[in-house]
Amino acid sequence: MTDKVLVIGAGGQIGTELLEKLNEIHGSSNVVAADLNNSPAFSNNPYEKLDVLDKESLFNVVKKHQVNQVYLLAALLSATAEKNPLFGWKLNMEGLFNVLELAKEKIIDKVYWPSSIAVFGPTTPKVNTPQYTVMEPSTVYGISKQAGERWCEYYFNKYNVDVRSIRYPGLIGWKSAPGGGTTDYAVHIFHEALKNKKYECFLSENTTLPMMYMPDAIKATVDIMHAPAEQIKIRSSYNLTGISFNPKEIAEEIKKHIPDFSISYKIDFRQEIADSWPKSVDDHEAREHWGWAEQFNLSDMTSDMLLNLSKIK
Ligand code: NAD
Ligand code: SER
Repeated sequence: MTDKVLVIGAGGQIGTELLEKLNEIHGSSNVVAADLNNSPAFSNNPYEKLDVLDKESLFNVVKKHQVNQVYLLAALLSATAEKNPLFGWKLNMEGLFNVLELAKEKIIDKVYWPSSIAVFGPTTPKVNTPQYTVMEPSTVYGISKQAGERWCEYYFNKYNVDVRSIRYPGLIGWKSAPGGGTTDYAVHIFHEALKNKKYECFLSENTTLPMMYMPDAIKATVDIMHAPAEQIKIRSSYNLTGISFNPKEIAEEIKKHIPDFSISYKIDFRQEIADSWPKSVDDHEAREHWGWAEQFNLSDMTSDMLLNLSKIK
């Protein structure tokens, strides 16, 4: 049977790029893009204007297109959710329940839902953070992701829901803008480097965080969703690592291409969020269970970002 896929939040940073990959795999007519607003990124896809909090409309979209797989990307990210904690909780949790319930009722048969390094908190070991460790997230975003992970595992154990998840690090890509996270600086820095040869960073120079280039994140997403079910042994969410760096290190890497680039620092509320997250994570379970391996290091990513952004600027 041909899979019919629904991507909710398709117009965001990840959705824009994931849609391209899913179109290649399933054919664009089998990939339905859903979001609050339309976007040129969906021009090849069936589009549904959809609020994931509207359970009835979600059901109708799934039925109308005979969807059997859902990628749920709609969420408030860390920085935005701190500004509106109750709505962050509502969107991140109720959206997930609405999709998990469709899978529990066997209306759909597979769910992808991303978690984040934000599930960890200030009391978590910061270097090579293990899959299983102390998790006391201090942001509303992190609390919602931690709770979401527990619920995903619960729906798998109790209702045999085939839900798969990755704890993405901060994601960096050139095709789409980031949507209100603490790691957004690592995308903005490239745009500003090409435009103004300088960047004012909202995190301090030594703030090391786990990051990943978007092609690697898309590959991981597609790989985990296409792995045989028995290989997915963790049904909460998998640690996943790509590259760990701080603002000073990425600025040095950019300077190799743009020698007169300079970085300055003006710290804001996002520093406290970043300080509560790991510097690097141990993802050996993802490597062993379903064969995860990243392709891009800091140097490869920087060259590729600058090359592609300079073509479209
Ligand atoms: P984003 O903010 O760029 O995109 C989210 C999309 O969801 C937007 O297009 C938005 O319009 C849409 N949306 C918001 N509310 C909606 C609603 N009620 N109904 C339907 N659509 C709605 O986010 P992203 O960076 O693409 O992240 C996608 C997922 O990946 C989120 O769950 C996020 O927590 C997770 N994640 C992202 C990163 C990252 O670095 N980008 C890292 C870790 C986890
Ligand atoms: N990139 C995300 C954020 O900063 C991490 O989940 O919110």
